[in-house]
Amino acid sequence: MTDERLGGRLIALGVTGSIAAYKAVELLRLLRAEGAEVAVMLSPAATRFVGPLTFAALSRHPVESDILALLPDGRIGHIVVADSADAIVVAPATAHFLGAMANGLAGDVVTATVLASAAPVVVAPAMDGDMWAHPATQANVARLRDAFGYGIVEPAAGELASGQSGVGRLADLPEIVDAVVAAVGSTPVRAPDPSRRPPLVDGPRDTDLAGRHIVVSAGGTREAIDPVRFIGNRSTGRMGAAIATAALERGARVTVVAANLEVMLPDGAEVIHVESTAELRAALLRLTHRPDGTAGFDALVMAAAVADFRPVGTADTKLERAGTGLTLQLEPTPDVLAQLARIVRGTDSDGEATAQAVEPRPYLVGFAAETGSLERAAEKLKRKGVDLLVANDVAEAGSGFGTDTNRVSILTLEGGRDDLPLLSKRQVADRLLDRIALALDARDADAQTSKP
Ligand SMILES: Cc1cc2nc3c(=O)[nH]c(=O)nc-3n(C[C@H](O)[C@H](O)[C@H](O)COP(=O)(O)O)c2cc1C
Repeated sequence: MTDERLGGRLIALGVTGSIAAYKAVELLRLLRAEGAEVAVMLSPAATRFVGPLTFAALSRHPVESDILALLPDGRIGHIVVADSADAIVVAPATAHFLGAMANGLAGDVVTATVLASAAPVVVAPAMDGDMWAHPATQANVARLRDAFGYGIVEPAAGELASGQSGVGRLADLPEIVDAVVAAVGSTPVRAPDPSRRPPLVDGPRDTDLAGRHIVVSAGGTREAIDPVRFIGNRSTGRMGAAIATAALERGARVTVVAANLEVMLPDGAEVIHVESTAELRAALLRLTHRPDGTAGFDALVMAAAVADFRPVGTADTKLERAGTGLTLQLEPTPDVLAQLARIVRGTDSDGEATAQAVEPRPYLVGFAAETGSLERAAEKLKRKGVDLLVANDVAEAGSGFGTDTNRVSILTLEGGRDDLPLLSKRQVADRLLDRIALALDARDADAQTSKP
């Protein structure tokens, strides 16, 4: 189907302080043309030859050049790259890099990443002919190749930056690309989950949700006590609005089922206003049932805080102050998300198949606001029958209601758990949509391959 040899792969490109560093820009382009995502690391000397901006713009990842700096999301950059890259290629590799690496010195991001990684390593040296011929350099190269198993793409003969001729020119770039492809081979992708890879630089995203319809519930429901009073919650709708904004920017059609929002929704979202849990449920059921048996959407993200209890009865007129006080009797509200999950899966509350499942099956994401431990979240995920549950401790500072940040854990039906650092709600939205986009692509690919 595709002749991209590095599709779905993450390649770490280490650039060191050689005059040939400018060629790494073209190497990055060639690796991208092979379908690879590329994360670039520069030694401090390399930054003097080519600026990080060029590499960041072309790779769309922040460039790592300071071993002591953290990623914008707080993770340790060289460890993230080391753990997620399918291969590391150092090109051009200086004599200094070869020496440092041969001795396990990790003084910059390039050497530290290579040292910290189990990924295959390809090294393409480039230097003055005498430097290359020096026994120290040759011994270092031999150690990298024979003791460490690194692939060495030997330098070529030709005119060098010094004006002399000799062996030391960086090998031709297609030869380096071939060596990377060979090093990766048919090994499984090490980090298919985008959240395990280095972050992307902020900016226009791929329209990876084009043609998708994403439904987001946002805000908090209110259950009327009388015409003027209600039982509500502190949800403002910020998280749901961030998801709607991000999904629109990524090309999706977006419907927001909005329950009493305190924030603006983006232009372009279709909005259904609801007040109570019953209205929210009715709106979502209408969206779920289409006459042709398909769901009217590809993914539902239930970011709204839905009331768990409502007054058993609602007074038609305003309740008057009474000397004896007021006792409200509450009853549980229907579990809207669990009901929707059963409908789309065609199962009853015991998980038995009782009806036709909705095809293609929409992807369901729930949110669970907890206070204290997130232990209950895993049980909630199973009980509700959703594909993903985003759990957060709303009692933690900077997380939950009314803030612009959130620290969440994403739990999957398969038992996976990803504890994200404190991120802006927009970043959380994009992390979530990364997963949704991948899951929907996988769903469609499965449907294609299972066709007779
Ligand atoms: C103009 C210029 C070009 C250089 N080109 C090379 C080179 O091609 N290969 C090399 O090994 N060193 C070269 N060097 C020396 C390295 O930049 C120097 O050894 C530096 O410490 C390498 O650091 P790094 O390996 O951490 O990037 C060059 C230096 C200058 C000033």
